[in-house]
Amino acid sequence: MTTIVAAQRAVGTSVILQDIRREFPGGVCAVDGITLTINAGEFVAFLGPSGCGKSTLLRMIAGLDRPTSGSVSLESKSRELQYDSKRRSNIAYVFQDAHLLPWRSVLRNVMLPLELMRVPTREREESAMAMLEQVGVADFARSYPAQLSGGMRMRVSLARALVTQPQLLLLDEPFAALDEITRQQLDEQLRNLWLSRAMTVLFVTHSINEAAFLAERAIVFTRRPARVVIDHAIHLPTERVNALRTEPEFAREMKTLFDALELGG
Ligand SMILES: Nc1ncnc2c1ncn2[C@@H]1O[C@H](COP(=O)(O)OP(=O)(O)OP(=O)(O)O)[C@@H](O)[C@H]1O
Ligand SMILES: [Mg+2]
Repeated sequence: MTTIVAAQRAVGTSVILQDIRREFPGGVCAVDGITLTINAGEFVAFLGPSGCGKSTLLRMIAGLDRPTSGSVSLESKSRELQYDSKRRSNIAYVFQDAHLLPWRSVLRNVMLPLELMRVPTREREESAMAMLEQVGVADFARSYPAQLSGGMRMRVSLARALVTQPQLLLLDEPFAALDEITRQQLDEQLRNLWLSRAMTVLFVTHSINEAAFLAERAIVFTRRPARVVIDHAIHLPTERVNALRTEPEFAREMKTLFDALELGG
């Protein structure tokens, strides 16, 4: 099973960070000397104290910000993508707020990225509907964002991110504002979406429970400026359901991450 999953996962984008540093005007250094390779198809969680530089790091990976020194490069099987326009359709970014357009229906929000890529109308409607079904909000396709709960809005945001079949999905504390039950449901759904697709996922969270549940590998950062405390492979089954969170093996993984957070804080 593990071998098959590893082979499937070999598709996607790899991310290579070489001695990245980001200093803001005024002298705040958010990230200092990070060297990391994220392999194609991995699910990696970034954990670290508030303000340590996680979002800054994610923004640099997305190409929304540039390092003061060092380099970020993204490589996919077929081509190397580095700070060019082609890169955009290969990367999707999900924020803590769903960031939906209030004047567009749910369906038309999810169709938007395909519109920008000039996908024919019929095809984009079919793809958006299929994606809404996968995240469990197809019944609300004709509703507007204001008519949805926070959890449903986040599902729509995920659908919009995934509708272009990105090779790299970046998520910055996407479920932090949701209640615990909804958050756990979305964790489970995201893990399954990752298993069913060939994509690399980078997930920023404050929650060690969420990091251990979702990821194959967790990277814990120190207080600002972010440096790596541990780069830890999570040894839990490939198929994960929420009941796993009460198992002793899960508690062991959480303890490792907790100790690393304490060490870096
Ligand atoms: N555009 C900016 N200009 C100046 N300083 C910035 C800018 N963006 C971030 N910072 C500073 O860089 C540091 C890291 O911020 P960042 O948002 O990356 O942290 P974070 O780890 O994502 O925090 P949180 O967990 O609270 O979201 C903070 O001290 C922040 O004030
Ligand atoms: Mg942040």
